[in-house]
Amino acid sequence: MGKKGQPAAPETVEDPTDDEEEREVDAPLPPEAASKILEALDWQVCVMPSTRQRYFYSKTRRQARVQPPYHSILGLEDTFSHHPSWIDRDVAWDMHGAATSIMSRKQSLQNHPPASTLPEGSTSVGLDLCLFVPVASRTWASALLVLDLEGAMSSQHLQTRALTDFESCSEYEEEAKRSLTESSWDYIAGGESDTMQRNLDAFKSFALRPRILQDVSCISTDCSIFGKRCATPIYLSSLAKGCLVSKGGEATFVRAAARCRTRFIVPSISSVPLRDVWAASESCDLAFQFYLLGDEVSSIERLHEAIALGASAIVVTVDANAPRKGALFRATAGATGVFPSPRLSWSRLAELKAMLPRGMPMYLKGVQTAEDALKAVAADVAGIIVSNHGGRVCGDSMAALHCLEDVASALRAAGVLGKIELYFDSGVRSGRDALKALCLGATAVGIGRPYYWAAACHEEDGIVALLQMLTSELQHAMAQIGTSTLHELSPDSLCHVVPAPSRL
Ligand SMILES: Cc1cc2nc3c(=O)[nH]c(=O)nc-3n(C[C@H](O)[C@H](O)[C@H](O)COP(=O)(O)O)c2cc1C
Repeated sequence: MGKKGQPAAPETVEDPTDDEEEREVDAPLPPEAASKILEALDWQVCVMPSTRQRYFYSKTRRQARVQPPYHSILGLEDTFSHHPSWIDRDVAWDMHGAATSIMSRKQSLQNHPPASTLPEGSTSVGLDLCLFVPVASRTWASALLVLDLEGAMSSQHLQTRALTDFESCSEYEEEAKRSLTESSWDYIAGGESDTMQRNLDAFKSFALRPRILQDVSCISTDCSIFGKRCATPIYLSSLAKGCLVSKGGEATFVRAAARCRTRFIVPSISSVPLRDVWAASESCDLAFQFYLLGDEVSSIERLHEAIALGASAIVVTVDANAPRKGALFRATAGATGVFPSPRLSWSRLAELKAMLPRGMPMYLKGVQTAEDALKAVAADVAGIIVSNHGGRVCGDSMAALHCLEDVASALRAAGVLGKIELYFDSGVRSGRDALKALCLGATAVGIGRPYYWAAACHEEDGIVALLQMLTSELQHAMAQIGTSTLHELSPDSLCHVVPAPSRL
């Protein structure tokens, strides 16, 4: 990014004091210690007891560094590695561009005007976000940088819509887009645009058939999801990189799901250690999503870790193991740095199943055809999730809801619907969407991006509010079609919508 010399690796020091308490010293902490930004990014400002030298410490990264974590503050983790003494006008301006794009999303980094457009001799660059970075003083540089960003962030937070103001998934989406960094937003939104659009449109190809004069004074959404009693048939799917939207990562999602008495599937690629995810759960009987990754040994170790922690169900994702390259890969799987193994097959699946403790149910996530659903029945799995990964892996594929229609019909015709548990995700954005999938035969439906949007807006409370909103929409729609319990739902409550002929 800078123009002078080669970037140096960030200056790091060995974790000087492993014990939290040892870092507590009597000397007053430097002003940056009060920074909410550093705190949010898990950087503590400490003082070494012997030398009184200030240093920055991150517990989750297990890293201590003398230089301020600019790269982290600016969301440029791993890519910004300048030594502070190199910070000159050009670098400051580049940082300003990064910060502006992160805070306002109004301009991309590429559109940021070059440093040469600055007035000659200026040492400060002051526009909407002023980053005044004196070349000589590290402390001032970091303090001012943090203060400026903090001001920008808090004014942005003041504008965040109140929790009670959200009335639809698209409102959460809009607000999340405003508050997330561009790279986080792109990672979450990423996917094959045609499949993603088809996923959403498919819900419009079914209409509800309202029924009248049924007693719907007492609507129950009680159900069982992956073997556990739940109060709503809407659960939180497994999504990688939870820390992008919540400081507590997956632990936040565990708590939100528990508050709504529903399930959260813990992803293999969790952003906080599995033991911390489990620590957030009172019952510990979490469902764990398993990827057989390219590094098979460590993925199996992770599976054993989840089982040892008390996992009550294993969900094997089977739709993302085709190797891919290009921009979409970089924005999705590539961003996680881990890749599902292309060697997973029906016979390997049987080996995996045999590896599980007796009675531990296995589910397949990503089934999209009737043939594979029947093979899953033959493989004796407890259930399947009809899903196309939210349109993230295969372009030109069927809408997930239409796959569900095919799969449920095939299972019904074979007389096994009800013997194998059937779940669905990909494209659910309202309680009525959920109802349509339930009518087609799903026991429960998962949501993905919507709860990431809600967490980005209001953390755990945002997810709880979203689940409550979707469940109450579902209850209202159930009343409209004259049903009081989920068991009564059937395809009879739906009809296909034929597109109206357009005038020539
Ligand atoms: C950002 C993101 C990350 C995801 N990571 C995983 C993952 O690690 N494992 C997995 O099985 N599915 C993953 N998925 C797919 C979701 O579990 C789910 O199938 C999908 O999000 C549902 O579609 P929706 O986002 O339209 O609701 C991911 C989806 C998104 C959007």
